[in-house]
Amino acid sequence: MSSGPSEPIALISDVHANLEALIAVIDDIRSQGIAKIYNLGDTVGYGPDPEACIDLVDAACQVNLCGNHDYAVLFEAEGFNPIAKKSVDCHRKIMRPNPEENDQEKLRRWMWLEQLEPMYEVQDFEAMHGSPRQPITEYVLPSDLETDPVKTSDIFSAMSKKVAFVGHTHFPGVMEDGNDSFLMLSTFDNYYRINRDNRAIINIGSVGQPRDRNPRSCYVIYDGVSVTYRRVEYDLEKTMQKIMANPDIHPACGIRLRDGR
Ligand SMILES: [Fe+2]
Repeated sequence: MSSGPSEPIALISDVHANLEALIAVIDDIRSQGIAKIYNLGDTVGYGPDPEACIDLVDAACQVNLCGNHDYAVLFEAEGFNPIAKKSVDCHRKIMRPNPEENDQEKLRRWMWLEQLEPMYEVQDFEAMHGSPRQPITEYVLPSDLETDPVKTSDIFSAMSKKVAFVGHTHFPGVMEDGNDSFLMLSTFDNYYRINRDNRAIINIGSVGQPRDRNPRSCYVIYDGVSVTYRRVEYDLEKTMQKIMANPDIHPACGIRLRDGR
């Protein structure tokens, strides 16, 4: 099926309770004249401002999907490393409604987490947090191409569209079916033209905790034929300070922001 130009949309992921990054990215999206934003999940976890980030994506995004951290805040952090678990426990403690309190704001945010869907699908693409095979939890890693080609091929087979947008690894780039190399942003100068003869998994990177050694927030604009990656500077020192001041969040969650890892 061929697909042509369409109204541009922005796709964001892995905000991770980083309010400064989220505000900067939404400002950048608006400055591009883009009205629609799809959020691929992990709005919470790691950072200092889970509630404010939920309120902002709820107001700004047309689609909000469920990530593994969103799920873990609702149901416990199972299989998480100790640093990630600590922040999930912290966010769970802040946000879980206490039936005796009758706090309507808390209840509203909790119900927002509960209603998040694992996947979103339209005519020319599908989107999820993790992978087309396991939309909430599975990582599609660049190293899989070398170490686990069976996994990669099974994931491509699980796709129902030619294009899948994902987040989760916080490492932006593109994997094409039949291509043994993971395409990093530098290989296509932040502009990837979609070839619909082939399936592609497009990792859109992270707003709130980039891990490709570039500390600037990452998101994409998709217009039906191409994907443009945008990097946005934000006040990461402010986010770091908030993390350092919160004993329930591991300081490593702050330090890593400066290095983008
Ligand atoms: Fe994440």
